[in-house]
Amino acid sequence: MDGKYIVFRGCRFPKASHTLESLRYAVNFQVRDDDLFAVTYPKSGTTWMQEILPLLLNGGDLTPVQTIPNWDRVPWLEETRAALVLGDRASPRTMVSHLPYHLMPPSFFSSKAKVIYVTRNPKDIAVSSFYFHQMASFLDDPGTFDEFLDKFLSGEVLFGKWTEHVKSWRNLDIEDRILYVTYEEMVQDLRGALGRFAKFLGKEFSQEVLDMVADHCQFKNMKNNTMSNYSLVPKEFMDSSKSPFLRKGVTGDWRNHFTPEQDARFSAVIKEEMKDTSCKFPWD
Ligand code: PPS
Repeated sequence: MDGKYIVFRGCRFPKASHTLESLRYAVNFQVRDDDLFAVTYPKSGTTWMQEILPLLLNGGDLTPVQTIPNWDRVPWLEETRAALVLGDRASPRTMVSHLPYHLMPPSFFSSKAKVIYVTRNPKDIAVSSFYFHQMASFLDDPGTFDEFLDKFLSGEVLFGKWTEHVKSWRNLDIEDRILYVTYEEMVQDLRGALGRFAKFLGKEFSQEVLDMVADHCQFKNMKNNTMSNYSLVPKEFMDSSKSPFLRKGVTGDWRNHFTPEQDARFSAVIKEEMKDTSCKFPWD
């Protein structure tokens, strides 16, 4: 383990945005009944949810997404910014988190807070994460793609194994307040996903608002939003000339990166580790 990561309760976090203090803040956070979380394994659609949720919750008002950087607009529960921006924020609060289920604060389990859990094809996550490790100086160099796949499969990456994260958020006794969606469903039919989110949140929106939100949250439009495309982050931390943060925004890019051998190896590990679950995904 080099100096770029902090391990807390068995989970690996980047030091650039997490401290022991921020992690203790997260696990002791006082969740309110009307809090809303979008939970993801990294590279599954977090930034997308940071765009969608404020738009939906503000009836399509573009002001928050045009004036507040995504990390303050919908902060990560576990990151250092959380204590600065969440404490006295008026309800309803919206947060994102990469935490596995067991690291959520005790007050979350006894609350009525809702969760939208976004899953993505782990092969596309691995590709997205590989490029992210190349452009973010606060992460280890990923090595070759083959080496990175080994690290990904063995969980030697941020937030550990994808399979453990996904499984931790399944078969829970909070099923009535969690909505599962996949990145793939959102790419295929964002308008439909927005309708599901609205229903889950108990909100009604006009067709015009839903159409406007879907349009604003298209990849090409988010890519041009300086409050969401990470262009505000200094180049020494994130170098978009190596790879932009909003990179491709597609499904199936893994086919351009995996060899048949890597595909077989990756699929075998994921299949074995998911065999005791009833999870069915669009990419299976
Ligand atoms: S992070 O670092 O965990 O917050 O990353 P995260 O935001 O979860 O994931 C980044 C990937 O999501 C893609 N993205 C989108 N795809 C489609 N449409 C929209 N609007 C969108 N916004 C973000 C982003 O491009 C990253 O995927 P890749 O495959 O690298 O392009």
